[in-house]
Amino acid sequence: MSLIFSFPPELLTPKGAPVALVTGGSRGIGKAIVLTLTAAGVNVLFTYRSDEKAALETAKQGTEKGEKAGVKAVSIQNDVSDFSKSKEIVEKAVSQFGTLSILINNAGINRDAVIWKMTEKDWDEVLDSNLKGCFNYIRAAASIFREEKRGKIVNITSINGLRGKFGQSNYSASKAGIIGLTKTAARELGPYNVNVNAIAPGLIETSMAEKMSDAMREQAKKDTVLGRLGKPEDIAFTALFLCSSQAEHITGEVIKVDGGQYL
Ligand SMILES: NC(=O)c1ccc[n+]([C@@H]2O[C@H](COP(=O)([O-])OP(=O)(O)OC[C@H]3O[C@@H](n4cnc5c(N)ncnc54)[C@H](OP(=O)(O)O)[C@@H]3O)[C@@H](O)[C@H]2O)c1
Repeated sequence: MSLIFSFPPELLTPKGAPVALVTGGSRGIGKAIVLTLTAAGVNVLFTYRSDEKAALETAKQGTEKGEKAGVKAVSIQNDVSDFSKSKEIVEKAVSQFGTLSILINNAGINRDAVIWKMTEKDWDEVLDSNLKGCFNYIRAAASIFREEKRGKIVNITSINGLRGKFGQSNYSASKAGIIGLTKTAARELGPYNVNVNAIAPGLIETSMAEKMSDAMREQAKKDTVLGRLGKPEDIAFTALFLCSSQAEHITGEVIKVDGGQYL
């Protein structure tokens, strides 16, 4: 048994490198996942919704990181809530890199308000991006994974999907939904040698966290037992691990990466 990090052989393409699709890869956690995957020798197609400049910069940095391994990062604009487009994006990954072996559902938004002030639009937008977006991509990738009898799916949920959070009924419901979706997809795709897991981050230092008040960020930090907030790389390395040979027997799991924020 090798103690060195590796990908399962079936994830490799004839050219050698696995192929990943990452949603919401232009910034924050998604960007760290793109850079970590290319550095680990994975070709990556990633989506973004609106910030083309950030996406091009991430693609450039990802390709630089992957240069040694001969892999690259490529961006494509897409709103994950668009069901039919998700199939096109999966097809794009296949036409660009030959196949698809890894799917990371990371794209997500928040529109916070207490229930009695939450608008229908806030509810719908969050559920459509976070939960439906995740379904759309699993649905689009499932046929390839079933046919190839292999695949890794990692869904980014949140500790707030496990515990609920004041002012985040839409967000917490979407993230709790992702957990149910993860477990069901693990059951349905397990017989086809596909691992499906979720990562539940605590507060991670990205633009999503920057939108919070200093007092709320400070409280989140105090709630951790390690006395610090997470970094995007903390999530990226966990995602990489879940796609590796070393995690082959893990499926249907929700792994908290939160410094003990929700114990
Ligand atoms: N940061 C945290 O503390 C934290 C904690 C727990 C869970 N999470 C989860 O981790 C994931 C990433 O969060 P983050 O903090 O990195 O967020 P972020 O910095 O705001 O980045 C979000 C990314 O998702 C993309 N995106 C958003 N909505 C999209 C849509 N409908 N279609 C396609 N792309 C979309 C954005 O693209 P554009 O820039 O082009 O809009 C961007 O690339 C989310 O699912 C979030 O819920 C974050």
